[in-house]
Amino acid sequence: MSPDEQKRAAAAKALEQVRDGMKLGLGTGSTAAHFVDLLGERVRGGMSVICVPTSEATRDQAASLDIPLTTLDETPELDLTIDGADEVDPSLRLIKGGGGALLREKIVASASARMTVIVDESKVVETLGAFPLPIEVNQFGYRASLDAIEKASRACGCGGELRLRQTREGQPFITDSRQFIVDCHFGVIPDPESLALGLSAIPGVLEHGLFIGIATECLVAGNGGVRSLTVS
Ligand code: A5P
Repeated sequence: MSPDEQKRAAAAKALEQVRDGMKLGLGTGSTAAHFVDLLGERVRGGMSVICVPTSEATRDQAASLDIPLTTLDETPELDLTIDGADEVDPSLRLIKGGGGALLREKIVASASARMTVIVDESKVVETLGAFPLPIEVNQFGYRASLDAIEKASRACGCGGELRLRQTREGQPFITDSRQFIVDCHFGVIPDPESLALGLSAIPGVLEHGLFIGIATECLVAGNGGVRSLTVS
């Protein structure tokens, strides 16, 4: 299977967890897009669900498939969020935000009773950090926030370049919440819990891409099929 076929296989497996009447969070990215696509087919077939998208891109995709949408203001408690990830470790700690939607993704997943992560085999790692950790930073005073991020990261044993994410045109990448993303090229994150705490304490940091204690299951698609990762 190609990586894209693996993504679709994981998405199809996740669809088996969806029941009529559920309130769902819809993730962002190429893997989550397969799930939204497959969910659209079910909705066309008569399944009744109501969904909160985690980005404007996912909202547009879901709306184009006539998937009923709501907001967390109208529906603050969800049954299940299905989303992709950039890295997953054996404790179901994640790096997310490669698509820049980490703030809404974390808000929506945290409002859900369960979060099922869907990935292809390439996303499973022993130690987080090879994928640059995205951090959403307020535009106001972002250089001061960069310095604070560097200091907090070093205190947790993380070094490496911090880069302001840019578009192909060389402009700063702007999130759906109108903020910047800083990508932290740590290579290895020896203590994700401490780093998460340190980053969350910085006023200019709106959210970081470490998802710890949020995912309840990960469906990993590989050539041998789809396997389930859980932690007890
Ligand atoms: C979006 O901001 C991200 O968190 C995505 O969920 C993550 O980057 C995975 O994306 P792909 O499914 O496209 O690899």
